[in-house]
Amino acid sequence: MIAINNRHLNLSKMDRQDSTTIRVALPANPYDIRLAAGGLDTLGQCLSVSELGTKLGQKIAVVSNPEIFALYGDRVLKSLQSAGFETISYCFEPGETHKTFASVQGLFDALLAARFERSSTLLALGGGIVGDMTGFAAATWLRGLNFVQVPTSLLAMVDASVGGKTGVNHPQGKNLIGAFYQPKLVMIDPEVLATLPEREFRAGMAEVIKYGVIWDADLFAQLEAADRLDSIKAIDPAFLLEILGRSTQAKADVVTQDEKEGGLRAILNYGHTIGHALESLTGYRVINHGEAVGLGMVAVARMMVQMDLWDAETEARQLAVIQKAGLPTILPEGVKVDAIVDRLKTDKKVQDGRVRFILSKAIGSAFVTDSVTDAQVAAALETLPV
Ligand code: GLY
Repeated sequence: MIAINNRHLNLSKMDRQDSTTIRVALPANPYDIRLAAGGLDTLGQCLSVSELGTKLGQKIAVVSNPEIFALYGDRVLKSLQSAGFETISYCFEPGETHKTFASVQGLFDALLAARFERSSTLLALGGGIVGDMTGFAAATWLRGLNFVQVPTSLLAMVDASVGGKTGVNHPQGKNLIGAFYQPKLVMIDPEVLATLPEREFRAGMAEVIKYGVIWDADLFAQLEAADRLDSIKAIDPAFLLEILGRSTQAKADVVTQDEKEGGLRAILNYGHTIGHALESLTGYRVINHGEAVGLGMVAVARMMVQMDLWDAETEARQLAVIQKAGLPTILPEGVKVDAIVDRLKTDKKVQDGRVRFILSKAIGSAFVTDSVTDAQVAAALETLPV
């Protein structure tokens, strides 16, 4: 049981027996997402041939960052070693500025020194940055090692760890270098959220809300009905498991239908088009990714009202959930509407010069369009609710 500020995250032994498995049924690379309180301690067993259904080689590298490794590294190593795996560990410097090719080179050096083979495994223990970089290393070293995701942030649990997007940044833009490379297993242990900074928790909640709007109206209704969404300390563990399950199921459904983002998968970028522009215009320092996505969803909702896709009530419902999650709903100070419209053109999802937006006909159903004009974007941004 984990104590947080005198309140127990209520993960009693009985709760620990509860686990959910979601299958990502990709024809060539199927895998499970396991949601289990205390799942970190079962990793060794989960990666055994009898449970995984695939024989992994003896060697596993636990790849993390110093802060996360200090919290959870020993438990993961112990579980793997108890199951007979030979382990090494490797930490990247933390932060987006270290999400580089050069950092991955450091991991390659360690893998070479430890004589990793194609049958060996890289296990990412951390948030989205660790997961993306470790996945990229797994995709490329010896043309492909086994890869396991153990996400420790809410954002990585519901989004980055599922679906196989891996990569590093280029000095000119985020995630410009990468590969689609699916993990063999995603292990989500909600207990680790107890040590996640609250602002990061709220950022992850933006992606949970996104799944409600684009895919799962019942999830959205559950978020509307919740008393609070802004703090891990205020969330009932059973409800947390429920929204983790629904969000990862949504991601699994979408990715299974469109692994390489030929069409449908783009709906996962709801709120991200304007969000990315806001992150970039504020130098990635003022608002984090989830906050930017929340703001992007607020802006797109306004656009959809102006386009007669949504009524004002639907917009107000989405705004209320975003506010309940403690996410900002007004644009960062000093960011100008014409600068946002301009920055949209540099989004890596621009196709033939046209900016791609994700819109929705109703809560739970989204579609992709490239027919939104600059004037429509500007009109929405200029009349955002404050
Ligand atoms: N994060 C969006 C995707 O995985 O496609």
